[in-house]
This record gives sequence, structure tokens and C-alpha cells, in this order.
Amino acid sequence: MYYPEEIIEEILSRNDLVDVVSEYVRLKKQGSSHFGLCPFHNEDTPSFSVSPDKQMYYCFGCQSGGNVFTFIMQMENYSFVDAVKYLAARANIDLPQAEYSEEVKKELKEREIVLNIHKETAKYFYSNLQSQRGKLADEYLRSRKVKDKIRKLFGIGYANADYADLYKYLLYKGYSEEMMLISGLIIPRKKGKGYIDRFRDRIMFPIFDVHNNIIGFGGRVLDDSLPKYMNSPETILFDKSKNLYGLNYARTAKEENILIVEGYMDVISLYQAGFKNVVASLGTAFNYQHAALLKRYTNEVVLVYDSDAAGIKAALRAMPILSSVGLKIRVLQIPGEKDPDDFIKEKGAEAFRDLIMKALSSVMFQVNLIKKKYDIEDVEQKIQFTMEVANILSKLNNSIEMEVYLTQIAEETGISKESIFEEIKKARERNKRINRHNKFSSLPNESKEEQKSSISNRIDEKDGLYKAQLNILRVISKNESIFQIIKEHLSFSEFIDPTFSKAAMLIYQAYDKDNSIEAAKIINHFESVEEQNQVSFIFNEEKNDDKEYDVEKAINDQIKLIKKANIDLKSRTTTDIYEIQALIEQKKQLEKLYINIISG
Ligand code: UTP
Ligand code: MN
Repeated sequence: MYYPEEIIEEILSRNDLVDVVSEYVRLKKQGSSHFGLCPFHNEDTPSFSVSPDKQMYYCFGCQSGGNVFTFIMQMENYSFVDAVKYLAARANIDLPQAEYSEEVKKELKEREIVLNIHKETAKYFYSNLQSQRGKLADEYLRSRKVKDKIRKLFGIGYANADYADLYKYLLYKGYSEEMMLISGLIIPRKKGKGYIDRFRDRIMFPIFDVHNNIIGFGGRVLDDSLPKYMNSPETILFDKSKNLYGLNYARTAKEENILIVEGYMDVISLYQAGFKNVVASLGTAFNYQHAALLKRYTNEVVLVYDSDAAGIKAALRAMPILSSVGLKIRVLQIPGEKDPDDFIKEKGAEAFRDLIMKALSSVMFQVNLIKKKYDIEDVEQKIQFTMEVANILSKLNNSIEMEVYLTQIAEETGISKESIFEEIKKARERNKRINRHNKFSSLPNESKEEQKSSISNRIDEKDGLYKAQLNILRVISKNESIFQIIKEHLSFSEFIDPTFSKAAMLIYQAYDKDNSIEAAKIINHFESVEEQNQVSFIFNEEKNDDKEYDVEKAINDQIKLIKKANIDLKSRTTTDIYEIQALIEQKKQLEKLYINIISG
């Protein structure tokens, strides 16, 4: 939905920030600003300030800042559109109704009907569970100690065993066969005419989106038969790569982190034990969209996986994906061959809370895995160990973090910090070389080891590139004079990520036109919630712990990274030898690029 700028202006002017913030925070006037306790982090002395003149807020403690839109987005965990709707309603402003095309209207109508089908179905399943036909399912849930209150909260139900039980029910409720098919809950009979239910004789877990709509189901058998779970197929409502089970509750749990577990039953069991900040991916591997979704609601995730090989593999796989959106990661390993559900039942909630506290950072988790492979009393193996650890640490770019790990590892192994650091320097050189070497040709005869490390490098580079684009956009949107300098060297079309590139274009244009930018107006140009959230990160400050951080160098590195990615992209798509040479030349020139930002 795209709102006209006048509406955004009007919403801004009729929602005084001091009033809006006062609904959440007790503010006290001090000079020209109002101060209060920051709602975004825990503090005892007020460092959250609101400027009535600028209509901006800023926290000196956690450095979050913005205007009335970002405040509501952060406070309520709303998307931009939700914040617009909320603030418009608050000021009694009518939002224009969208003019939809016939096609879009039809789809919206279908969505609405299919949503209703899901709601009706969930209610039906729920009532089945309390009825005579659901007796075995009821017993099963009791045997697994799921309390009635939790059944209700999660809407757990039972799909009857008959072939077309739900079909008949939905027909009776007046739904067409066409809509039932679109819902994915009913499928055509394999042989002959007619329809049957997708889920039969299963315990049913409704899957909610973050707005508490039911968009799909997972169904578990009552015994050991296979497949254990069946999930809704992809429908107009349900995309399992964009939803997480439990997120509707976890997002407002107001905890420091979100726990990621493997299954439906783990979410339910942890929730019942008082851990409301828990999600599971829906029978699919963790992906980038899941990570971006989580980043909207938290800064730290705790991966809770079984300690078996498969669990460790899943954790290692999820790590680069999660860190690519800037999430802090810790890994919780459940001792013994247990899942979280078993553990809680056996040892209780306090013991689990203890495990959360003791969960290792992703770096130390990896270091421990390496440690298990070697006997560091043996000199040869000690060298191997140090090299592998150095390779992990070489990917960190925060010097404080690095120091902390070096100290910890040195203490645990007796290897001096200096020797580990020497290896880190070597690893960085090696990675650079492999990178360069991989850019223009990918030689088939690279060794296995080199191939592996170049793959992990590519992942790192992707994260770095994403962060670089985000940071440059942050810097230029905060500071016009820096923008004026940077724009001479970097055009908006050079941003690789399409959403960032469009945001850059809008930012460049806004500076040209108005000499200033308004976050809400920029975000307003994006249609999907995903894009809006990605763009809103540009305008949300992030805390930077690294005091020694050289801003000018960082900006230069980031610009170079973006420009290099452009060259690489071109070099991948051309076969023209002259153009390749030109690109190599450009790359050489790029090494020499240095933009003076602070001194102009
Ligand atoms: P688990 O087998 O660990 O399931 O699979 P669980 O949730 O712990 O269930 P219980 O304790 O055995 O009752 C983890 C997740 O993988 C998906 C489901 O999302 C499940 O919750 N899965 C598993 C499937 O989609 N299909 C399957 O056949 C099995
Ligand atoms: Mn389980």
C-alpha cells in the first residue's frame, strides 16, 4: 500500500511525539526537551529524550532514535503500514481506500474466504478434541502433559478419522469446493470424483502468523506411524519459509532473546514451562527470510538443538544465516540424547533457565567443537587446533569481541594470545588470497580445504556486503554533508540489494529535492512488509560498542566492498576478454580509492 505524502505529513503533524510517547513513558520537561526512562532498554536513570521542536526521540543509553512512526514500530513491533494505520486512527484521519485492480480484488476476496475456512476449521478441530471421537487424541495430549490452558492458547485440536469429515463440515458451512481446494485442507480423491480431507486422525496444531491469523496446520499422528507430521502445503496464505511457529507469542514476550527449537511440541512444552519467547521453523531448514523476520523482534537468538550430530549440523548451518542479518547468536545444547520437551519434563524449568544462561556464544560453540577433535597436549595437534580456531576468529571484525575470545581461549588451552593472533593474521591473508583467486576464475583443481574455506568466505562476504550497504545508507541518511561527499563516489544504482538500491535512489532524490530526508516517506514507497522492515533498519540506530571504531576507515571499506561487488557481478556475466581486463583494471584502481570524509 502506497500512501500519498500529504497523508503521511498530516499523520505526522497530528500525532505530537510528546503525546504519543507519554502514553508509554512518564516524561519530565528539562530545558527544551522531555526526558524519561527508555522503553527500549532497562535503565534506572532517564536517558531517553524527546524533542518537541524536532519531533524526534533519542536514547543516550541504547542509541535508539527516530520519529513518531519508528517509535510506534519499535514499541508495538508494528510494520510501517500498521504504524500508519494506528497513528491515523489515533488522530481520526481517514486513510484513503486503495484502488485495487479486478485481479487484486479477486485475490483479496479469496484470501479472506480462505482465512475464514482456516478459522472455522481450527474451531472445528478444537471441538473434536473435546468430543467422544477425539478421546484418544485427548488421552495422548494428557500423556504428554499438555495442559488445557495451553491447548486453548495454541488452539490444539483433532482431525477426525473419516475420509471427508472436514469436507462435509465446510460444505455445510457454505464454502465452495473451489475455495476448499485453495485452502489446501481438502484434496481431490486420487481415483474417481469427489474430495477428501488432507488431515485425518491427527492432532492438529494451527499455525498462526504474527497477526494471529491461522494460515495453516501441522498434524501429528497419535502413534509411531509415519509420516509423524504432515503440514499444510504452500497456499495463498501459507509460506513456510516466511513464518515461524510460536512467533505470534514470542514477538511480544519482551525477553532479551528468542529461543529457536526444532518442533511444534518443543514450542508448546517450553511455553507451558514459562518460556514464551520460543519459535520453531515449520518442518523446513532455517533460511534467510526466517532470520530477517526474527530480527524485527529481537537482537539475540538462542539456538536450542539436540546434542546429536544432526542437531549440531543444523545449528552450524543456521549460524551464518542468522548472523547475516546482525543477530547475536548463542547455542544451547541439551545434555544427553534429549529434546527440550523431554528435558523440561525431567529436570524442570529452572534447570532449563540455567542452560539458557550458560548457552555459549556461536564462536565459543565452534571453538569447543574444534577442541573435541584434538588432543592439545600433543604438539602437532595443538598447532592444528590453533589454526582452526584462528580461522573462526579471523572472521570477527570487532576488536573488543576478539580480545574477549582470545583471553578466554588462551585461558582454557594455555596457548598464548599472541600465538593465536599470529595465526589469525595468517588466516586473514590466506582468506584474502583465496578470495582474489576465486574472483575471476574458479579453478577446478583447488584443494578440498581451499574450496571449503572459499565457500565459507563467500557466505561471509555476502553478510559483509549486506551490512556495508545498510551502514552506508545509515550514514548518509543521518548526515547530509557526508552524503554530499559519498554521492560523488557511489551512485544509488551501485547498491546491489534491490530494496537498498531503491531506498538509496529515494534518499538521493530527497536530498536533491528537499535537502533533507524523512524516514516515513522513504519507507512509504515500499509495498511489502518485508521491504518496509528492511528499509526501516536504515533509520533505526544500532548500538556500536566498539569505542575505537574508525568511522572514516569503515565507510571507505564499505564503499569499496560495494564497488567491488559491482565489478564482480559484471565480471561474472561477461565473456568479453577486453571487458574482463577493464574490470581487472577498475579493481586495481579501487584499491587506491580513499575518500576523506571527516576533513571533507
Ligand atoms: P520432531 O520429530 O523433533 O517433532 O520434528 P516434535 O515436535 O519434537 O514432536 P514429538 O515430540 O515427536 O511429538 C521436529 C519438527 O520437524 C517437522 C515438524 O515441524 C516437527 O515439529 N517434521 C517432523 C515434519 O514436518 N514432518 C515429519 O514427519 C517430522
Ligand atoms: Mn519432541
